[in-house]
Amino acid sequence: MKIGIIGAGNIGGNLTRRLAALGHEVSVANSRGPQTLTALAEETGATPVAAAEAANGAQVVVVTVPLKAVPDLPAGFLDGAAEGVAVIDTGNYYPQQRDGRIAAIEDGLPESRWTEQQIGHPVIKAFNGTYAQDILDRGRPQGTPDRQALPVAGDDPAAKQTVRDLIDELGFDTVDGGGLDESWRQQPGTPVYGNRGDVDAIVKALSEASPERPAEFRA
Ligand SMILES: NC(=O)c1ccc[n+]([C@@H]2O[C@H](COP(=O)([O-])OP(=O)(O)OC[C@H]3O[C@@H](n4cnc5c(N)ncnc54)[C@H](OP(=O)(O)O)[C@@H]3O)[C@@H](O)[C@H]2O)c1
Repeated sequence: MKIGIIGAGNIGGNLTRRLAALGHEVSVANSRGPQTLTALAEETGATPVAAAEAANGAQVVVVTVPLKAVPDLPAGFLDGAAEGVAVIDTGNYYPQQRDGRIAAIEDGLPESRWTEQQIGHPVIKAFNGTYAQDILDRGRPQGTPDRQALPVAGDDPAAKQTVRDLIDELGFDTVDGGGLDESWRQQPGTPVYGNRGDVDAIVKALSEASPERPAEFRA
């Protein structure tokens, strides 16, 4: 598949590594420009591009920048994406350490719903509770006992299935985390966040989540 990755940090860098190794055609962007991504490009074979170009022709786009940077993404960056593109949002709201106060989220809007509004396109929430290093280290073949499972939330069934299939290729099971209105179940501070359990453990953790955002994730 043609995959555009916007953000080349902990998560974006490791997704670039694994997805390129699986044979996907990966374009990757950061805020400073493609000339700053030559080392990652040489290592992985991915194509470094400007953020405005990263989604061009892509069937999957990964938005993996700090939440506070989402409004700074280039206007219309998804305009050239393939029809039916699945847009993955890995984001988390960290108001105290990084993002500052975002009133709509404090008022109860799930963080990925906020991101969706900012970029003007539906998103699938995935990888947000996954340690970046685990993307490199913990993928296992289908059927491996205790294979780690990742929750995936979103409203578009076709896009969600595309994302679940891609995560399976990366070596992880998935659990349907419901629509984006349910995506608070996998936000920071929930039982599933950072959870390395298998499908049963992730189903249980999602069911035990509280919609109340813990104090350390509020501002
Ligand atoms: N770290 C983890 O283990 C982890 C796990 C799950 C989820 N997450 C979430 O995933 C998101 C990304 O986390 P991360 O740890 O990968 O972040 P990170 O290491 O800080 O990397 C952020 C990346 O975003 C790029 N960026 C920032 N503003 C941009 C813009 N306006 N246009 C294009 N690119 C831009 C940065 O480019 P420059 O370097 O050029 O500025 C950098 O490549 C966050 O919401 C985080 O909470 C992180």
